[in-house]
Amino acid sequence: MKRKILIINGPNLNLLGRREPEIYGRETLDDIVGRLVAMFPQVEIEHFQSNHEGSLIDKIHEVGFDEAYAGIVLNAGAYTHTSLALADAIAAVRRKVVEVHLSNIFAREEIRHRSQIASVCIGSISGFGAKSYELAIRALLPD
Ligand code: DQA
Repeated sequence: MKRKILIINGPNLNLLGRREPEIYGRETLDDIVGRLVAMFPQVEIEHFQSNHEGSLIDKIHEVGFDEAYAGIVLNAGAYTHTSLALADAIAAVRRKVVEVHLSNIFAREEIRHRSQIASVCIGSISGFGAKSYELAIRALLPD
């Protein structure tokens, strides 16, 4: 059986392609996920997007103890910078979580330099556009 990887996208990322394309690019979320599915046939890639903090936490709880998953790739959007609850959810579960951002959060406004979730993730990838997701998946796969 193929292992699974869950990609979670948080608030406003459903608007990719239309939202501030000069920062986040012109690809939609469907474009990005479709490409990742084609790129990594050795794993089953699932995708979940929500604009609601509690729904993101529920999803992390749902898969976070399931050994079918190699891990979770999480772009928590602005909740990255604010959500202790999301950090607690990541710390609570057993699956590895990789933090990703399309933009380089350290090259942007100071409020975006702080990540509440970085310390409970196995690593963080920021600034490579859609390629950030690809690098995060590679980080979860065996060498
Ligand atoms: C983001 C960066 C966050 O600061 C921002 O709030 C987002 C997207 C990124 O992918 O670059 O919504 O996570």
